[in-house]
Amino acid sequence: MKHQPNIRGAVHEDRQHDSAIKHVRGLAEYTDDIAEPVGTLHAYLGVSSVAHATLKGLDLSDVRAAPGVVDVLTAADIPGHNDISPTGRGDEPVFPTEKIEFHGQPLFAVIAETRDAARRAAMLAKVDAEALPHALDPIAAQAAGYPLVTEPLKLERGELETAMATAPHRLQGRLSVGGQDHMYLEGQIAFALPGEDDDVIVYCSTQHPSEAQHMVAHVLGVPSNAVVVNVRRMGGGFGGKESQMNLFAVVAAMAAKRLNRPVKIRPDRDQDMTATGKRHDFIIDYDVGFDGAGRIRAVDGTFAARCGWSSDLSGPVTDRALFHADNAYFYPHVRLQSRPMKTNTVSNTAFRGFGGPQGVVAAERMIEEIAYALGKDPLEVRKANFYGDAHDGRNLTPYHQEVTDNIIGRVVSELEESCGYQQRRRDILACNAMGGVLRKGIALTPVKFGISFTATHYNQAGALIHVYSDGSIHLNHGGTEMGQGLNTKVAQVVADAFQVDFERIKITRTTTEKVPNTSATAASSGSDLNGMAALDAAEQIKARLVEFAAGHWGVRPDEVRFVPGHVQVGAQLLPWEQVIKAAYMARVHLSAAGFYKTPDIHWDRAAGKGRPFYYYAYGASCSEVTIDTLTGEYRVERTDILHDVGRSLNPVLDRGQVEGAFVQGMGWLTTEELWWDEKGALRTHAPSTYKIPLASDRPRVFNVALAEWSENRERTIKRSKAVGEPPFMLGISVFEALSMAVASVADYRECPRLDAPATPERVLLAVERLAGRA
Ligand code: MTE
Ligand code: MOS
Repeated sequence: MKHQPNIRGAVHEDRQHDSAIKHVRGLAEYTDDIAEPVGTLHAYLGVSSVAHATLKGLDLSDVRAAPGVVDVLTAADIPGHNDISPTGRGDEPVFPTEKIEFHGQPLFAVIAETRDAARRAAMLAKVDAEALPHALDPIAAQAAGYPLVTEPLKLERGELETAMATAPHRLQGRLSVGGQDHMYLEGQIAFALPGEDDDVIVYCSTQHPSEAQHMVAHVLGVPSNAVVVNVRRMGGGFGGKESQMNLFAVVAAMAAKRLNRPVKIRPDRDQDMTATGKRHDFIIDYDVGFDGAGRIRAVDGTFAARCGWSSDLSGPVTDRALFHADNAYFYPHVRLQSRPMKTNTVSNTAFRGFGGPQGVVAAERMIEEIAYALGKDPLEVRKANFYGDAHDGRNLTPYHQEVTDNIIGRVVSELEESCGYQQRRRDILACNAMGGVLRKGIALTPVKFGISFTATHYNQAGALIHVYSDGSIHLNHGGTEMGQGLNTKVAQVVADAFQVDFERIKITRTTTEKVPNTSATAASSGSDLNGMAALDAAEQIKARLVEFAAGHWGVRPDEVRFVPGHVQVGAQLLPWEQVIKAAYMARVHLSAAGFYKTPDIHWDRAAGKGRPFYYYAYGASCSEVTIDTLTGEYRVERTDILHDVGRSLNPVLDRGQVEGAFVQGMGWLTTEELWWDEKGALRTHAPSTYKIPLASDRPRVFNVALAEWSENRERTIKRSKAVGEPPFMLGISVFEALSMAVASVADYRECPRLDAPATPERVLLAVERLAGRA
């Protein structure tokens, strides 16, 4: 057979992000770059300066009289429903009417000729509010008798009480894990253009265009078919644009319809950080029974989360924390409970891992506790507790799903070998034993992460492909691009299906007009779901082309094959364009809508049983750190990662996701500290006070590898696995390595109860405490 050159941009091959050059050259278009029509107005939010109060009145006369102000919107001006709660609980008014529930809560919006005028005017409101006592964190909230924002979840299996009572060892502890600001480079933004009748078009930086559409319709009191939401790309979302854009989308749309002019709203960074939700911080109480080998017998855990004033996504987030409180470990007897606490703070939301990381970090703390109690290497304890398989009866999760694709043992032992863990740990122990101000730590931690939305109906996706008569291809799907490379991957899938070069495919913006009823691009499932939907659309068009070509050129259907750049029709090798042109002339339908839903998943929340996850993604990382015991400062000397993405759709993009997620996870557990003052004001509301990792904080040596031998056992798109969130939890190795370095000052006799984020201050305090100086 004649040698066929491969197509450019095939699946499983490295392919740079389709917008990489545009990103760095400033040519990638974001919502704020869209040319503003003449007459565009700008909105800004007026916010509360108390954390909890009865709202008695709003005097907005000075706001209205301010220069450039065109209009002011309050709750009374909402034409439809005053609610944007993403789960439909009805507990999240756009603007409050009776009660102020957090410091920084939006109370009204000003619409002005310029953004600057709107922003200045927003500060002139006189708010008549009668202060009420507030509770900022889960402990204070519980003490004050605050309600839960949503029904808690309980996962249970086995005979907890008996197992706990008969366990040879037992210990209890509490871990406090901080939240995290999304710090997307592009902040929240929405730009609305009024149309005829009910119509409105909203450009919005959103991971969930369908939800923004539904919320705008709901708030305007119009059907969904009147609203179009578009997004070409986001400058990062990280979960912060899964529901938090709703506020901005509805304000822009309301103002645009009311004034019949285009309206844009873009908060500045401080307002973005104070008025929108973040990662939930948790207080985790654990009680664990284990044997002399470090094997866990029983676990009892309570996960209290700071949910903020409304439920938002706190139900599913706290659920996912419980789903991951086992991480890679088998708990023979277990009870896990969530406490989604209402607090007088901004309503916390999705953030990479969606509660999962908070569960995983608790599991890792318990392992550490056991290791220190028994004087063992934590890695040995980890291995002793890994899930097994059906044969040894150690593969059942606390939610009664069997782990059938377990590869954690292999991932961990390969990494342990390749990074020289054992020797390096011995060297570090010897080095610390010499004393000195600088101490070292090393930790190797695993990750197992469940893939699928736990709300089963979310696991569906659509795509739309047009092949134009010149042979060019237009690709649209329900997923959104936030930098993760989803569009590149889906285009690779389509290029592979048609065997055309990647460049032939136009990646287009996500719009509710083309693919309806989409799910958020979240839960790492973007390429799993949309890749499959796009493949379905491509296969439909291919089937029509095969039928046409067979008839037209007089061959059997099985003699028509798609080969690089061409279609093989019997003995003839015809260029792709020629076949498409001929098909068009013969009136073949060259457009198709594809659809996909994840098979074999189900979840009964009331019973706490089911198969919520289609499969698991695995990974492991090993980090080495040095701390300064006089100042608490530290640095990451080296990190090695081995991560499982199944058969990668695009290894270079996947490695990028792994690196980025690791660094973001490390930031969460080290320097990123959210701090509210006693009045409930978030004082870390800008990059000046909120420290994300810098390029210089990156591990000095950073070796990242994908488990090339891995392949998804389930029939996912090209046997790949989701990559967006799982590697976030690889950052935990840094936290655990810091813990070991701290423990060295007391000869590892005690497990340092280091809370997260382990800022230099916390590291120093932990050192002082262990050394008996504090
Ligand atoms: N990568 C970049 N560059 N920017 C982002 O905002 N979000 C993360 C992850 N990777 C994000 C990212 C989160 S929270 C999720 S859920 C996934 O990407 C979503 O995209 P995917 O499902 O296509 O992986
Ligand atoms: Mo990601 S937190 O599921 O948007």
